[in-house]
Amino acid sequence: MHTVITGGAGLIGSHLALRLLDLGHEVTVIDNFSTGHRANLDQAIGHRKFALRFGDITDRYCLGSLNAVTGIVHLACPAAPAMYSQMPIETLRAGSQGTMNALEVAESHGARIVLASSSDVYGDTTTHPQTETCRGAIDPLGPRSAYEVTKMFTEAAAIGYQRSEGVRAGVVRPFNVYGPHMWRGDSRVVPAFCAAALEGRTLTLHGGTQTRSLLYVSDAVDAICAMLECDEFGPINIGATEEISIKELAKTVIELAGAGDLEVIEARQADAPSRCPDMSRAAEILGWTPRVSLAEGLALTVDWMREHRDGPEAAA
Ligand SMILES: NC(=O)c1ccc[n+]([C@@H]2O[C@H](COP(=O)([O-])OP(=O)(O)OC[C@H]3O[C@@H](n4cnc5c(N)ncnc54)[C@H](O)[C@@H]3O)[C@@H](O)[C@H]2O)c1
Repeated sequence: MHTVITGGAGLIGSHLALRLLDLGHEVTVIDNFSTGHRANLDQAIGHRKFALRFGDITDRYCLGSLNAVTGIVHLACPAAPAMYSQMPIETLRAGSQGTMNALEVAESHGARIVLASSSDVYGDTTTHPQTETCRGAIDPLGPRSAYEVTKMFTEAAAIGYQRSEGVRAGVVRPFNVYGPHMWRGDSRVVPAFCAAALEGRTLTLHGGTQTRSLLYVSDAVDAICAMLECDEFGPINIGATEEISIKELAKTVIELAGAGDLEVIEARQADAPSRCPDMSRAAEILGWTPRVSLAEGLALTVDWMREHRDGPEAAA
């Protein structure tokens, strides 16, 4: 088995790389380190079955001369709201040209390809919890549009290559994945809260009543591995059904860190009031349900961030 992971230096990709090496795969990571970090791959670098290519997925050249590829997991894309807001063009390119490049490699190698879409394809839907058949309410000019549209394009490209070229594509829609390898400076809610609390700062909440379901990264990796092994297209939600309000999340993090306090400010425009997946399809098709509770996952994340305070500052 030779699996290529685009965006493999990021949160999900780096954990996936380690898991696949444990399972005996040869693993090639392609990453431009725009939001990911080489340090996330410290345990993989030097492994005889591991290769790291520094390159941009939008550049076909960085995907050339690969040993026979059996699987591709396409993750390369800025994923934090602060990043894709600052980098709309890079986000659109990674999700369009980058996705087409990854699909073409899958086609030429006859490989299975799993592509990361996102719960953001549901936009501002009022359906709750979100089933995969739910049609998203997306504003093409809204503050999140580059990311939302990119993920819709990713899905459209995947089904297009499957229908017209017979590519064995599969699509997953992750919901708020968190865990170790999110560094201080990552603006996503869990690392932002953990970093602020560990430094004894104030956790600023926009609103605070909005709810999220958070998935620990090892569970996301289990789901992606199951998707890689099957031939389903999906799309399949991968997330947790346990919902928590942002305020409760902040309080839990403050308790685990033993420091920090709370400040509530005005809610952001286009911040979905709730995000919670319907997980029936994942259970039925992948035989997968999350195993790590929120309490356990948050404790592991706070501990990891406490131990890695001096690591690379995430870009935003
Ligand atoms: N983490 C989540 O909560 C979540 C939720 C929904 C969807 N997703 C999707 O899953 C995927 C992985 O998410 P993540 O949390 O690991 O994100 P991440 O930002 O930690 O990792 C993304 C990786 O892609 C790399 N990258 C970005 N653009 C690139 C390009 N043009 N060429 C090569 N590499 C590039 C970055 O350097 C980074 O290492 C993304 O596609 C994201 O949209 C994640």
